[in-house]
Amino acid sequence: MSHSFGYSPASLARRHWIALAGLATVAVASKPLRLSAAETGGEEMEVPAVEDLMREHGIMRRALLVYAETASRLSAGKESIPLDALGRTAVLFRQFGEDYHERSLEEQHVFPPLLEAGGPHASLVKTLAAQHQRGRQITDYISAITRKRRVVDADAAPLGKVLTSFVRMYEHHAAIEDTIVFPAWKETISSSQYPSSRSSSRSSNTNCSARMASRMP
Ligand SMILES: [Fe+2]
Ligand SMILES: [Fe+2]
Repeated sequence: MSHSFGYSPASLARRHWIALAGLATVAVASKPLRLSAAETGGEEMEVPAVEDLMREHGIMRRALLVYAETASRLSAGKESIPLDALGRTAVLFRQFGEDYHERSLEEQHVFPPLLEAGGPHASLVKTLAAQHQRGRQITDYISAITRKRRVVDADAAPLGKVLTSFVRMYEHHAAIEDTIVFPAWKETISSSQYPSSRSSSRSSNTNCSARMASRMP
């Protein structure tokens, strides 16, 4: 069954992250998953894991642009709020940002080795995990507002405040991950465990992030 945003479980299963699921088994993790050109119907392309995560942040930042624009319009009058776009963005953020990027990748594979290593990076990861939880609460709130189909006066100011604070929190969150946590994760795990590449078709380039980008309002 295809995912509502166009990626299928099968396509995700090809990702290098599935190799990471066997991190404890070095023999598996040390062998990057690679699709042949015949499998992909095109040229092979390798994408380092950290770069892949940062690309996913790019998709999530595009969602933040919708949130920021909505907050800006709220200050000008609630009639101009792009409620449908806001609702679709919240669905994307939930499915791609929270369920996939955060739960399936960061919380399953990136955070645990840093927590285990201890020190300042472990403290940082605890804060980031708490922000994931806070973000999910905010996504629930935004989705509940958009399901009403219109923003009542009592919701306008709180919604604008929540959107603005979420954008601020997540911009900081992604910046910390990009510049500190992901490099530290790469340093912490052994080179044999680091998923050095993900293969995909350069010609189709229909990786998960690209598909998500195409669905952005
Ligand atoms: Fe995160
Ligand atoms: Fe992230």
